Amino acid sequence: MKVLMINGSRREKGCTYTALSIVADALKEDGIDSEIVFAGKDAANGNINACVQELKKKAAEADGFVFGSPVYYASPTGEIEMVLDRLFGTAGAEMRHKPAAVVTSARRAGTTAALDALAKYPTINEMPVVSSSYWTMVHGSAPEDVLKDEEGVGIMKQLGRNMAWILKCIEAGKKAGIKEPLKPQYNRTNFIR
Ligand SMILES: Cc1cc2nc3c(=O)[nH]c(=O)nc-3n(C[C@H](O)[C@H](O)[C@H](O)COP(=O)(O)O)c2cc1C
Repeated sequence: MKVLMINGSRREKGCTYTALSIVADALKEDGIDSEIVFAGKDAANGNINACVQELKKKAAEADGFVFGSPVYYASPTGEIEMVLDRLFGTAGAEMRHKPAAVVTSARRAGTTAALDALAKYPTINEMPVVSSSYWTMVHGSAPEDVLKDEEGVGIMKQLGRNMAWILKCIEAGKKAGIKEPLKPQYNRTNFIR
């Protein structure tokens, strides 16, 4: 089994990457593979179409997801929002019913607002949201700060363990013959008709 992680920072190996790496290590301890894709650069450089097509292929093969972003002005980055807006528009079917977690990194504040925004993506696509022992944030301006955030490191480790547990439960359920839920049984409406 494999978890696809998307790093929406403009810095490839910064604080968000460090947090995602801790989740990846915990997953590995429980026998789950993962890949961290640095999507921030492509989104900022106008390569969004290629980036989303590549992520769509990876999403089809993945069993779970982690969407990570630094906090920019108390929100997720424009880069991760651009990627996720497009990815959920084009690869919703590839991700539906697969568990997802969201992670933010900030120097100081805006983490819960950014987490709320990121969690909006899986929760409109029938994806179980995986939580940890606290809201899934770390703090720091540089990777070494994140490693000194003892509680943040522990929260990321627990997130990896919880993701591994949910993935194994879903796999066991499939083997036991539990079917995915029926597709939605209603018509989409707006406020006019
Ligand atoms: C444009 C910009 C806006 C930022 N806004 C915030 C903010 O609102 N709150 C905060 O605590 N840190 C803010 N920061 C700091 C980053 O969130 C923080 O350093 C983060 O850990 C960097 O993660 P990264 O290394 O993965 O990019 C901002 C940084 C940048 C570049």
